[in-house]
Amino acid sequence: MDRFIIEGGTPLRGKVAVEGVKNVILPMMCAALMADDGVTIIRDVPNLRDIKVLRMLIGELGGESEFDERERTITIDAARVDKTVAPYELVKQMRASFLLAGALLGKFGEFHISLPGGCAIGARPVNFHLEGFKKLGAAVTEESGHLVARADRLKGATICLDYPSHTGTENLMMAAVRAGGKTVIENAASDPEVRDFGNYLNAMGANISGLGTSTVMIDGVDRLTAVSYTPIPDRIVAGTYMCAAAVTAGEIEIENIHESDIRIVMDKLSNMGVEFEKKTGGTVMVKGPARLRSVDLTTIPYPGFPTDLQPPFMACLACAEGVSLIRETVFENRFIHAAELNRMGAYIRVAGDKAVVVGVPCLTGAPVMSSDLRAGAALVLAGLAAHGTTTVDRVYHIDRGYEKMETKLQALGAHITRGDDSEDT
Ligand code: EPU
Repeated sequence: MDRFIIEGGTPLRGKVAVEGVKNVILPMMCAALMADDGVTIIRDVPNLRDIKVLRMLIGELGGESEFDERERTITIDAARVDKTVAPYELVKQMRASFLLAGALLGKFGEFHISLPGGCAIGARPVNFHLEGFKKLGAAVTEESGHLVARADRLKGATICLDYPSHTGTENLMMAAVRAGGKTVIENAASDPEVRDFGNYLNAMGANISGLGTSTVMIDGVDRLTAVSYTPIPDRIVAGTYMCAAAVTAGEIEIENIHESDIRIVMDKLSNMGVEFEKKTGGTVMVKGPARLRSVDLTTIPYPGFPTDLQPPFMACLACAEGVSLIRETVFENRFIHAAELNRMGAYIRVAGDKAVVVGVPCLTGAPVMSSDLRAGAALVLAGLAAHGTTTVDRVYHIDRGYEKMETKLQALGAHITRGDDSEDT
């Protein structure tokens, strides 16, 4: 298995560009299967493991897809999709594969998908998705670890989500797009990714309004046509590179930022002593101070502070001056990285959904293990700031959501290489 070897202590300098966001590209790839004609082209696509897994799943269903790494485009031809069964071997690799549910139910009136199961950050059930499908008229059953849904004709309904679930809203939007009549999703997720995904469905011919608010309305349509679409840039990747400048007292120019989508993150970093200089065309210069200051933060659904940036912020606060309180309200088990950061000399105490971070003057390099995508990113950031050598194991988690992270960091002057653990006994 691949690992990163990091010699920390170098302030990062230079430019990095943010690519299209995986958490829009994944639902887009699923929705591409709903097109009645044409070939879908998705632009500005990073080379990520999750996208590769979803392409394999699309292949299993009979669809054809191609990824042109040089052009950074994916083309998807859904003309030959003739199966509605998503196999466990692929689904278990990536929870987002459950986004196929809404697409298959919307287009073919059925799906047969393995239960996605829990993951390191929490149990992550899909009950809101299933309750919504039922409201739209689907019969949903669980058969030996598989979820099966069938509907002769979906019918618009009012669905009130218990929680503004991100992929729940996306799945229900896909199912409702082809349902007869009007669907209203109340307490819908208003994240920029959900809004952008809705805009993509509208470009395909859907009739969705209220995007970016907590009430999303969908008027069913009879046909959808494949289109070319460029997703918004990845605000979590942008935030991670901002943290890289912050934690190394570096100066990084980050290109392709939608500032309005990441304002709360920039505000927090400003409070920590980070300086921003806005340039033209979505470019922002980020400058870390000699030592960061502590802040408190609570993760909540958009427009609140994003849970996906909680681990990178914890790495920054671990070596900030003062005491920070972090509260994680979105996922019940998203503090696994705290113990790994403590192995690097951090002083973090976790109690339930709260973590108290007592900033230390400097972290020290150590062997650590990433437990999920964002925890992995946090450990890389800590390694960049630490004195000495850090090895981050299980880099495959990081490859799910950060394209060639080590190459991008090398270009910023970081001493980071990719190795493997085959020499371990
Ligand atoms: N929840 C339920 N039942 C449901 C759905 C969600 O109880 O049916 C709970 C979850 O267990 C969690 C909370 O509601 O405690 C929020 O979950 P949500 O459904 O919003 O998360 P998600 O859609 O599964 C997406 C992103 C995550 C991101 C979260 C929160 C994708 C593919 N995944 O997950 O991204 O953390 O929204 O913003 O869009 C990542 O990129 O590293 C990542 C984990």
